[in-house]
Amino acid sequence: MSESITAPTPAESTPVEATETDHRNRPRSKAFVDFITSGWAPRADLGVRPGAAIPFSAARRARLAQELPGARLVVPAGSLTVRSNDTDYRFRPHSAFAHLTGLGTDQEPDAVLVLHPVEPGTGDDGPDGPTSHHAVLYVRPLAARDTEEFYADARYGEFWVGARPSLDDVTTLTGIEARHIDELRDALAKDVGDGVVLLVVTGSDDEIETLVEAIRAEAGAEDAAAGELTDADLVRATSELRLVKDELEIEQMRHAVNLTIEGFAEVVRALPRAVAHRRGERVIETTFDAHARLEGYAVGYETIAAAGEHATTLHWITNDGEVHEGDLVLLDAGVEADSLYTADVTRTLPVSGTFSDVQRRVYQAVLDAADAAFAVAKPGVRFLDVHEAAMKVIAERLEEWGLLPDGVTAEVSLSEQGQQHRRWMVHGTSHHLGLDVHDCAQARNELYREGLLQEGMVFTIEPGLYFKADDEAVPAEYRGIGVRIEDDVLVTADGVENLSAALPRDPDAVEAWMASLRD
Ligand code: GLY
Ligand code: MN
Repeated sequence: MSESITAPTPAESTPVEATETDHRNRPRSKAFVDFITSGWAPRADLGVRPGAAIPFSAARRARLAQELPGARLVVPAGSLTVRSNDTDYRFRPHSAFAHLTGLGTDQEPDAVLVLHPVEPGTGDDGPDGPTSHHAVLYVRPLAARDTEEFYADARYGEFWVGARPSLDDVTTLTGIEARHIDELRDALAKDVGDGVVLLVVTGSDDEIETLVEAIRAEAGAEDAAAGELTDADLVRATSELRLVKDELEIEQMRHAVNLTIEGFAEVVRALPRAVAHRRGERVIETTFDAHARLEGYAVGYETIAAAGEHATTLHWITNDGEVHEGDLVLLDAGVEADSLYTADVTRTLPVSGTFSDVQRRVYQAVLDAADAAFAVAKPGVRFLDVHEAAMKVIAERLEEWGLLPDGVTAEVSLSEQGQQHRRWMVHGTSHHLGLDVHDCAQARNELYREGLLQEGMVFTIEPGLYFKADDEAVPAEYRGIGVRIEDDVLVTADGVENLSAALPRDPDAVEAWMASLRD
């Protein structure tokens, strides 16, 4: 078993030889070990209190268990990811783990949530009574101060990365029974090949996947029998579970969007500084990202700060360009709250504070497309209908401007065999949003793209038009203009609520808002 899922070793009582590549100047004397492992006051209370997510995550687990009866469901948090050499990225748990435990921020690398199948009706309490599963969180608890890990482990040790919660703390925080990660292997293996199917959320933790495969192999249960559930069923179910947001998720989405709106205002205030800097786009990026880090956990995806022609590159994240007075700047950014829910908002702003005629013409077309999408979105319509409403406006406007090829009308372009208008908007109009910026990505097509909108869904509406500088299919005046307008919406009983409505989108309102921030 690898180092990350073994117990901390007791402190060495005899000096250990340094290896040839040990450059940390680690003291190894017995005197040092004896001294550093003693003389500590009792641990201070870490201040762990029951998490607000407890009833919500219990209800989510109950729904998942109902979908996959009889199976042992393994949901790893994921491990630390190496950035380079011996340094890691900041930890961010897998979204299925965050959703099912309620744990946000950078908590619990290497933890594994397991839903053990039990006699139906004798499991954990759910909203409809006892369920068919019992949840256990396997974690690497806080190591005692007489362990080597305490002072010498740069990746996990308290001296290096701070104190982790104890097993009791984890239970207090999540409402889930917590056990030592060393118990995981036996717990996973129990009755596998003898009635219990073991399923793991893939793509989160390679080590746990390998462990699951080894257990299956030992039990002679590598190949799922016909009709038996597979890992893909679990991945799909955890993704589909998030298509409709619960009350706490909606509250967190509102919070993330509101923080994002504040970040956009900070960027407008920073525009003069961006114009003055040789890498003005970086001024925009870092202004937004600083706000995200100060008020939330991080950004939910790399900020797109694209001035001028860069705005025609859909995911421009290099952000090293200049920002000029006459340009539009496209800012596509979202604050990820401490709960890990993220917003995803785009505004295309005139750097000078005023749109030129042609910029305004393109902007208005995109806004009209967005408004058409807003107008059709309500429970019972297809997710795809929202996109089609936006595309109709885009195609009609391109026809009006004479940009579609000769003989191609908007109607022809909108047909399946046409689609010429998509030259200027190759992306989709909407995606689900939540813990992931492209949330619920493993949901089945019939529930996502072809699915019907339901109250409680949260998704983006983000049409755009992008005319590249070297696009000979459009007149020169359009070249180098890229516009996207992106809002985050919540499906209500009879339509959608625009969660990002407080951020102006009408061009006059954008100009007035920018002026008010610059006074
Ligand atoms: N905000 C980036 C995207 O939706 O792909
Ligand atoms: Mn988006």
